[in-house]
Amino acid sequence: MTRYVVTGASGLLGLNLSLQIFANDEVLGIANTSPLKGLPFEIQEMDLVSENFEEGILETYKPDVVIHCAAIANLEDCEKNSELAHQTNTIVPGKIANQCRKRGMKFVHISTDAVFDGKSGNYSEDDPTNPLSVYAKTKRAGEENVQNQNSDAIIARVNFFGWSLSGTRSLGEFFVNNLLSKNPINGFVDVNFCPLYVSHLSDLLLAMVRADLSGIYHVVSSDHMSKYEFGCAIADKFGLDHTLINPIFVTKSNLLAERSLNLTLSTEKLSTDLHLTIPTPLDGISQFYKDYQRGYAQNIRNYSVED
Ligand SMILES: NC(=O)c1ccc[n+]([C@@H]2O[C@H](COP(=O)([O-])OP(=O)(O)OC[C@H]3O[C@@H](n4cnc5c(N)ncnc54)[C@H](OP(=O)(O)O)[C@@H]3O)[C@@H](O)[C@H]2O)c1
Repeated sequence: MTRYVVTGASGLLGLNLSLQIFANDEVLGIANTSPLKGLPFEIQEMDLVSENFEEGILETYKPDVVIHCAAIANLEDCEKNSELAHQTNTIVPGKIANQCRKRGMKFVHISTDAVFDGKSGNYSEDDPTNPLSVYAKTKRAGEENVQNQNSDAIIARVNFFGWSLSGTRSLGEFFVNNLLSKNPINGFVDVNFCPLYVSHLSDLLLAMVRADLSGIYHVVSSDHMSKYEFGCAIADKFGLDHTLINPIFVTKSNLLAERSLNLTLSTEKLSTDLHLTIPTPLDGISQFYKDYQRGYAQNIRNYSVED
């Protein structure tokens, strides 16, 4: 059995990933402010910015692998508190990467497709980055910190959707919740991305660990669509009314953080090195729907104390 520590275990990725690891291996999840109840795996609360992860977790739990999902992942929050975003998204990953290297523990850092400015698209891992928002800048600086501290680390640039603790964290949930309530909503036609379903992302991250990969990888879906098309595909799969989705341009919206328009990434390096076919967004939407039908969305929400 492999012993994993997953940070951000109350978040969209960290919670789904920890549940998936728990099916076969041992996992300790680290959460910060979100109260959780009834989890099948062990959980510990810790503020990674102010508390000692090395003494508090690495020395006591002695994991084989640390998967670092914790971040300030909300773009608007990062604009409003850039110092906290810098501490959380840049300083903390470098510190943990260094501690893991010293102890011979595998470190996996979760980064973002938003390190690119989205002017061209179909980016490979070798393409130059140009992050636009505070979030993207602090995440890119976090990648550099991890690379400088630990050359054996995996850095996974991701974009994903799924069922979350609050029921509102992911873009997929945004579309389902509003369409079920018959609320008219907007879908961006000028933002293209490669959304991967969170359980597919978890499978791929664990396969990367087993294959002992290192360096930067694009871990997104193997095909792309606009956010508007993504919403319509979800509506169609769930039998909901996609005419409620109003096609609009993000360039005409009043969001605080600047968005990259074409965030399509190439997954060729990942599929070659893992000898695997990477799922498409439609594969993901299909699994997202199957999980909804089997009650998984509600099961996840039941872990929240606030539900
Ligand atoms: N969602 C996406 O589509 C997307 C796209 C690209 C990249 N990413 C990256 O993927 C990773 C996971 O994102 P997500 O969507 O799962 O995030 P999320 O749902 O917003 O969860 C963030 C997690 O980080 C924890 N956290 C924040 N500050 C912390 C601190 N000081 N100490 C300890 N824990 C702290 C939170 O804990 P509490 O809630 O308990 O406070 C929460 O568990 C992040 O690195 C993000 O940048 C996400």
